Amino acid sequence: MSVPSRKTARNLVLTRALPAPLMRRIADGYNSWANPEDRTLSSEELLRAAREIEAEILFVTAFDRISASVIADLPRSVKVIGTLSVGHEHIDIAAARARGQAVLYTPDILSDAVADMAMLLLLGAARRAHEAAELLYSGRWRGWTPTQLLGTEVTGARIGILGMGRIGRAIARRAGHGFGMRVHYHNRSRLAAEMEGGATYHATPGSLLAQSEFLVLAAPSGPATMGFLNAARIAQLPEGAIVVNIARGDLVHDEALIAALESGRVAAAGLDVFNNEPQIDEGYKRLPNVFLQPHQGSSTVRTRVRMGELLLDSIQGVLDGKSVPNRLT
Ligand code: DGY
Repeated sequence: MSVPSRKTARNLVLTRALPAPLMRRIADGYNSWANPEDRTLSSEELLRAAREIEAEILFVTAFDRISASVIADLPRSVKVIGTLSVGHEHIDIAAARARGQAVLYTPDILSDAVADMAMLLLLGAARRAHEAAELLYSGRWRGWTPTQLLGTEVTGARIGILGMGRIGRAIARRAGHGFGMRVHYHNRSRLAAEMEGGATYHATPGSLLAQSEFLVLAAPSGPATMGFLNAARIAQLPEGAIVVNIARGDLVHDEALIAALESGRVAAAGLDVFNNEPQIDEGYKRLPNVFLQPHQGSSTVRTRVRMGELLLDSIQGVLDGKSVPNRLT
């Protein structure tokens, strides 16, 4: 990679620390302002940094809220907002479009890592991984017994996937081919047969829920999915279903899910995403039948670096006037 001179290098605000190869690429290729503390910036701090260096590029994450009012207050110099995420509900896309800013994201590249995490959550919930680890780490384990922590068999069970985009399909492949599960799904529209891969389509969420011994939420956050899994929908699941959320916390009504986990109406849950992260509902932490991860879906070295490379390549592409496939506006 050629190193631009300081005079020609573009000005970039980086809101979080990245893996070393990406930090090096940014340091070599841009005049950058990098958040010195690895924490979420307030809107004021982000705006101050953008103004201070007359930023042309904002390199942000899913936890930086780029609302319409932030966009309105950004300096005119900002041409590109790149988010290191497939989710983009934190950016007001219409406001960015109205200001002529390109919004870039990182689809596809993380689907396998996220689908792997969905399977970890599914297995962790089904096989009582939290209780099992607790038994060992607490020193209470007295040895194997025939009735010890009996879980739910995954092989042959019905899995219902809400959202059959790239991540949903990667989960379906793992569940169907790897674990012999019977795959059902609901999506805004039915997939072509070759993409369905033998999965059964349900035209309504209610019909999917009724079949979902395992329910996996893999749909994007947005007005159509906000609060999707509420008490009424939980009541449509088979008794003792297992719930997995790999999408966004706001698809779930926490009180309703916690109540169902307490009563056993839902046998277990595997959750990687939450409302109000990182201040998650304390109710989850008190439950033995939940397997929790701190938003780790795409957290592998290879995936994170590839996400950053994709974003930096496409930022450069946009600045060079090229069309890039991961552009939202
Ligand atoms: C994503 O890519 O949206 C992940 O949730 C990380 O933010």
